[in-house]
Amino acid sequence: MKLAPATIDRLVMAAETVRRNAHAPYSGFAVGAAVLVSDGRIFTGCNVENASYGLSVCAERNAIAAAVAAGTTEFVAIAVVTGTSPPATPCGACRQVILEFGPVPVICANTSGERTVHEARDLLPDAFLPESLEG
Ligand code: THU
Repeated sequence: MKLAPATIDRLVMAAETVRRNAHAPYSGFAVGAAVLVSDGRIFTGCNVENASYGLSVCAERNAIAAAVAAGTTEFVAIAVVTGTSPPATPCGACRQVILEFGPVPVICANTSGERTVHEARDLLPDAFLPESLEG
């Protein structure tokens, strides 16, 4: 499905807004993510770090968890906003979690307006997928 530019703008803006709530006192690296689902709703998440560093959770996985908790897994697109140039792409763990819910465009943006778009499956070639458990 081709995403309308206005839809992409809305998704990126949602990710940029939630990024302001990032709890990143250890890395100083704030991330916001937003997931668009098939009925048009947008679910958001920011990174939440912890004094026990390894417990930190990425923005993408928090946004995905919010969508799943609301009862939907029909993902249409995900946007990730960072403050870096070029915009950062999702970490390996998040790539795996994004792919669980099917092929989606991943829009990587920064606060200066730069954007790159990747297909989730291109970000994680030869991925271990739900169907990998069969047979
Ligand atoms: N982070 C994300 O939220 N998403 C990513 O895809 C990469 C990394 C967070 C984790 C940590 O809080 C900070 O960015 C620095 O790694």
